[in-house]
Amino acid sequence: MRRSSERFIKTIDDCFSQAEKVPTEGLLFSYRGILYPATVTSPETLEALENFEARNDDVILAGYPKTGTNWLDQIVRELESADVKCTEEEMKEKIDAEKKLETFPRLEFGDPGVYERMKNLPSRRIILTHLPPHLLPVSILQGKAKILLLVRNPKDTAVSYYHFYNNMPVLPSFTSWDEYFPAFMSGKVAWGSYFDHLIEWNKYIDHERIVMMNYEELKEDQIQGMKKIAAFFGFSLSEEDFHRIAKKTSFQAMKDKSKETHGKFGDILFRKGVVGNWKDLFSKAQNEEMDRKFQDCLGGTKLAAKMKYDVYCKA
Ligand code: A3P
Repeated sequence: MRRSSERFIKTIDDCFSQAEKVPTEGLLFSYRGILYPATVTSPETLEALENFEARNDDVILAGYPKTGTNWLDQIVRELESADVKCTEEEMKEKIDAEKKLETFPRLEFGDPGVYERMKNLPSRRIILTHLPPHLLPVSILQGKAKILLLVRNPKDTAVSYYHFYNNMPVLPSFTSWDEYFPAFMSGKVAWGSYFDHLIEWNKYIDHERIVMMNYEELKEDQIQGMKKIAAFFGFSLSEEDFHRIAKKTSFQAMKDKSKETHGKFGDILFRKGVVGNWKDLFSKAQNEEMDRKFQDCLGGTKLAAKMKYDVYCKA
């Protein structure tokens, strides 16, 4: 694995211990009307982000929190390394540069100096973000970098985020699902409104350098999904590579290795990894409210059609 697990685990541990010292009301801060976790980013970092310089060969992975972005990150790193087949020396250079970032591999995480350090990452850089397009640095959309957008149905995303909120020390807890639900619906959660994200991304749906993928389609046929990703980024892999990577990045395989790869974060991240878990928590009224909201915000859009809401979200 390219990501330095040791560094990742240390960063997680530092964040968790820092969060323990912060009073609940200080765990989140608001920047331009959107909430962010204070132990992983800051207003200064978000300001400095504007100066981030994208490269034409950057691989940008975008997705609202809890849509499977860590899974996608792992898949794309595996696909890319099977394509490039780095020498030991090149691999070491990459790992060393990643270690020096001293943060999680997310575009909007870390201290304001992280963007200077990112310049030392050798190409191709694989960069993950939870930000919607209008909050991305201009160089990403104006340049030639390709963007893979991961989307998950809103009901499973909401449930996944609820458990994440209550298990992640860096986020404040909710006392119940019923208390959390209105916060999710009105975007009063970290990274803002799920719906606003997709409304913004829908404007780019026909962009030649942006492709969208569903968590659900990746779950249903991972090999097919990975072939689509590889074709989009121009990675060339054998049939055997695809099968090997699918096995290595299955939910169970990643969960089994998570102590080693993600430390304490593993138990929080690898929860269920299924489609349809929302049925355990949504009341009839909440279900109807979500259906209405989705229709109001995204009904009739190309993005909604690709998401197959009726297949994954109807009771
Ligand atoms: P659940 O909470 O529904 O289980 P993110 O990485 O964006 O935070 O998304 C986390 C969600 O992706 C979690 O969903 C997690 O279980 C799921 N996930 C992580 N790895 C996965 C994998 N290999 N296959 C399927 N789902 C995975």
